[in-house]
Formats: sequence, C-alpha cells, structure tokens
Amino acid sequence: MQEKVDSIKKEVLEAIDGICDSKVLYDLRVKYIGKKGIISELVSSLGSLTIEEKKQYGSLINNLKQEVTKLFDDKNKEIELNLLNEKLKNEKIDISLPSIQIPIGSPNILEKLIEEVEELLMSMGYDVVDGPEVEEDKFNFEMLNIPKGHPARDAQDTFYIKGEEILLRSQTSPVQVRTMIENKGEKPIRMICPGKTYRRDDDDATHSHQFMQIEGLLIDKDISLSDLKGTIDVIVKKLFGESIETRFRPSYYQFTEPSVEVDISCFNCHGKGCNICKQSGWITVAGAGIVHPNVLKMGGYDPKVWSGFAFGFGAERLAMLKYGINDLRVFYNTDLREVATFDRKESD
Ligand code: DAH
Repeated sequence: MQEKVDSIKKEVLEAIDGICDSKVLYDLRVKYIGKKGIISELVSSLGSLTIEEKKQYGSLINNLKQEVTKLFDDKNKEIELNLLNEKLKNEKIDISLPSIQIPIGSPNILEKLIEEVEELLMSMGYDVVDGPEVEEDKFNFEMLNIPKGHPARDAQDTFYIKGEEILLRSQTSPVQVRTMIENKGEKPIRMICPGKTYRRDDDDATHSHQFMQIEGLLIDKDISLSDLKGTIDVIVKKLFGESIETRFRPSYYQFTEPSVEVDISCFNCHGKGCNICKQSGWITVAGAGIVHPNVLKMGGYDPKVWSGFAFGFGAERLAMLKYGINDLRVFYNTDLREVATFDRKESD
C-alpha cells in the first residue's frame, strides 16, 4: 500500500508540474480527488478492509488525499498569480501621463441674483411659485384688465402660438392671476414668481426676445402704497447696499391703480450723475402698484375686503446693474470663457 501511495503521489507531482492552464489542472484534480477520482476510490475502499488494515492504511490514504489536495490548491494559486501578473504586464497604467483637464463651470450670476431675491422674500413669508411659459391670452392679458383690442397689448410685442388664444407669456404677471384663482379668494397671498418671458424685441444689447422677470404679489387686508414701498426698499437695499434710496414715480399699468415706476438712487455716483443713471442720479428697476379692483374681482377676491400690491422687476436689468454688465445677451452665453468672467465680476 505504501508503494501504491508513493507512486500516486509521484504521478500527481509529475502531472501537475508543467500545467499552466487552470482548466487542465481542474480536470486533473477531478481525475484524482473528484468524487470518483483515483484517491477518492481508495478512501472508499477502506470500508471493505478489516479493522487492523484500516488502522494501518487509513491514515496513509487520508494523508495522501490531504497532501494531493494541497498540491492542487497551491498549483491553482500559482496559475492565478501568473495570470494576474501577465495581465498587469499587458495593461500597464502609465501614471506619468498627464490627466485630462475638465474645465470647471461657474454658476450663472443671473441665477444667483434671483436666488438672492428669493431667499430674502422667503424670509419675509413669501412663497416662490411657478407658472407656464406657454400661456393663455386669458391669464396673460384679459384677467389682468387688458381686454382684446386694448392698445396696451401692442406695447408687449407678443409671440402668438395658436390663433389669438395661446401665446408665450410676455410678462410674469399672469402668475398673479393663477395664484389668486388657486387661493379661491379666501386666503392672504404672498408670492414671488421669477421666470422667463418672451417678446418680439431684440433690437439692441439691452433687449432680448427672452428675458426674466421677478413678479411679486401680496394680498391681504388694508394694504397701502407704503407697504409696497417698504418691501421694495428692503429688496433694493439687499441687492445694492444700505445707502440706496427708493423713489416712486407715477406710471400706468392696466392691472394696478395707482401704478408706479420704481427708481433707485444711483449706486455708482450717488446722485451726482453718471453714465449708468444717464446723468439723472436715479435708475428705474421695476414697475409696481396697488392691485386694480377689477383684477382682484376677476381673480376671485372681493375688492371691498381685500387689497394688495404687485411688482415686476426685470431680472437681467438688476444683474446688469449689480455686476456692471452692458450686454444682456451674455447671460445666455454658454461660452465658458465668458461665463468665468462672472465669478471675477462678483468678487470685484
Ligand atoms: N408686467 C409688467 C411689465 O412687464 C411689469 C409690472 C408692472 C408688473 C407693475 C407688476 C406691476 O406686477 O404691478 O412691464
């Protein structure tokens, strides 16, 4: 038996020696220590031996099985290691290769300015709401007290999409109407709606067919022009500095009565007169007013009970003033070289 065991071990050692393929090794493993392998058969044959013989050969055969199993395991590890080394040699990573430079973008300062206004007004209890850019004539004009055929419509060179009923909103004011309807004439409202608006107007560097407005609406009881002035004052001071003053000039909008034009004292020359304020010392930044009773009524609010104010800022205009930009179109430019200059402007 000893001889048999020795010869099997020798046989395995010789067979294993040159193998460098794990599949071949596996087949060989099955041949010797698989369920019906040569050594496994030997182990099972122990059962038919006498107790004496079992004592004599049992450990011999079991040792053989253990040793051979270890031989296969070690060889398998060796093959895998060789494979890995081979792979690493072929797939060498050149760590000295310079990495690809991915240009880093910058947040758009128009967005930043809008966020600044949003945060301020949210801290004053306003909700930031959204409305559709493809709007109905009803909300964009009619319910804002601008009936069909009204000359005020001409001033807002509107893009019509379908007949006279569907259009690209020419102002964010329709969101006032939508918000009133949503609140069913029952609750006070404090909302702002920053959003895109569209007009057929891109004649010069200060106009674009698409621009952004920041609409504001407050409805409550006993609201007066001084509430509007106080609110606007907080906004412009936050954006342009504590020393900035606000003034109202009489104006005309169909959806407010009285209507005003909001001017701020020039942050550049502080009233002396410069290019930015066109030598007047004042800069116009918004339209505003007390919500017209007709608009309240059409929105479902009883004008005998409720009153309110509304305002509309031109967002690009605010950003142009704040950051000293003279071409509105740069906000919509995706050229990173341009956009990166925004960061510099902001840190000025
Ligand atoms: N919607 C006006 C425009 O586009 C701006 C405006 C004026 C909005 C007065 C208002 C307002 O809410 O009360 O010119």
